[in-house]
Amino acid sequence: MPRIADPRLEEKGRLAYEWASKHMPILVKSIDRLKDERPLHGVKAGFCLHVTKETSVLVMGVKMLGADVSLCAANPLTTQDDVAAFLASQGIDVYAWRNESMDEYYSCIRSVLSNRPATITDDGSDMHVLYHTEFMGKSNYKPIGGTEETTTGVIRLKALAAEGQLAYPVIAVNNAYTKHLFDNRYGTGQSTIDGILRATSMLLAGKVAVVAGYGWVGKGIANRARGMGARVIVTEIDPIKALEAHMDGFAVLPMDEACRYADLIVTATGQINVVRQEHMKAMKDGVVLANAGHFDVEIDVRWLESNASKKRVVRDNLEEYTIDGKSIYLIAKGRIANLVAAEGHPPEVMALSFANQLLSIVYIVKSHGMLEKRVYSVPEEIDRQVAINALEAMKIRIDEPTEEQLEYAKRYR
Ligand code: NAD
Ligand code: ADE
Repeated sequence: MPRIADPRLEEKGRLAYEWASKHMPILVKSIDRLKDERPLHGVKAGFCLHVTKETSVLVMGVKMLGADVSLCAANPLTTQDDVAAFLASQGIDVYAWRNESMDEYYSCIRSVLSNRPATITDDGSDMHVLYHTEFMGKSNYKPIGGTEETTTGVIRLKALAAEGQLAYPVIAVNNAYTKHLFDNRYGTGQSTIDGILRATSMLLAGKVAVVAGYGWVGKGIANRARGMGARVIVTEIDPIKALEAHMDGFAVLPMDEACRYADLIVTATGQINVVRQEHMKAMKDGVVLANAGHFDVEIDVRWLESNASKKRVVRDNLEEYTIDGKSIYLIAKGRIANLVAAEGHPPEVMALSFANQLLSIVYIVKSHGMLEKRVYSVPEEIDRQVAINALEAMKIRIDEPTEEQLEYAKRYR
């Protein structure tokens, strides 16, 4: 039995699904191409993803290809309840609602795993890890393979594989060019700014925005913040990324200095305690903190919680902490701001990521028994095909190399 907030939201969720489908032609085309073949016929497919309108297009597509689908959320605060209601009405086993407690969050993941899915598609690897720590070895249930959506999830899976513990092959969808170059950069860039603006209504022009981490996500946020007139400072630990930020025209400083100037600080590192007590003590009155990384560990919220003399909710998804008489504002409890305070990435960009997901799930099923227990890249032909489909959907034409150019590329002198 599905567990959702309110089945009466079905119609609103259907409209959201239709809207997203219209803006995801790259994904819809991939589904249409495989519909007759039904390559997932009879396959149990488990998903632990943010339950959004974009995710609804992916999981409905996987169902159309013949799979029996179960879905739970990849974060306790990000489920769009109307979408969950629509998917439940379509025969998908949904276990997700907005504002789950942590116990409820893990119990929803357990519910999906109890359906014994053959494929596991995860965002952050909580489901992959729970399989390995709680389910593996307790029965004869073993998935044939999985996929992983995000940077942090891939890092966790590689750590499992390095210890020789990974029980099935996993495709690192995040690492496809047509995923991270666009989703992590442009998707998170836009939707994080969207979340910050919805939560605070602040003017960015003229403000000092500190972006921690200049990876794919950080680059996206820094560029979008600059585009809206903010003066952006980047903090990094990697000398090459720091140099890149400098040559891209950003100021680069260590956090203990940058935090003194900040009107806004956004973390995008995948690391723990990047913004911590010594920084919070040095910040200006009225500073806004937001996190775009996968887990809520980048800002030391526990320190804020135990040291604030006062705490109050001032707007939706915005809390004010009083520290030494000054106000520090925290968006979305330090959780993934673009999905809690806004709707996550726009459908156009999720279409690229989820076309990679769909084709990788089909690949896992078709390659059953032929893959090793390790973390694989998305096959190059899938990555390339997604780019070709995207250009086609956007009606962008490119050149083909001439015979002469092909020959020239083979020469060495
Ligand atoms: P990345 O590896 O490309 O970039 C992370 C960067 O952070 C690196 O350059 C690293 O050197 C830097 N860094 C690490 N520790 C730091 C520290 N203490 N101070 C400053 N910089 C530090 O990863 P990415 O793809 O940009 O992803 C970053 C995080 O965002 C991950 O947790 C990922 O899962 C998550 N993510 C979120 C969304 C979203 O929708 N919000 C989308 C994609 C990825
Ligand atoms: N991750 C970031 N944005 C997302 C979205 N719109 N749907 C699902 N996962 C996401």
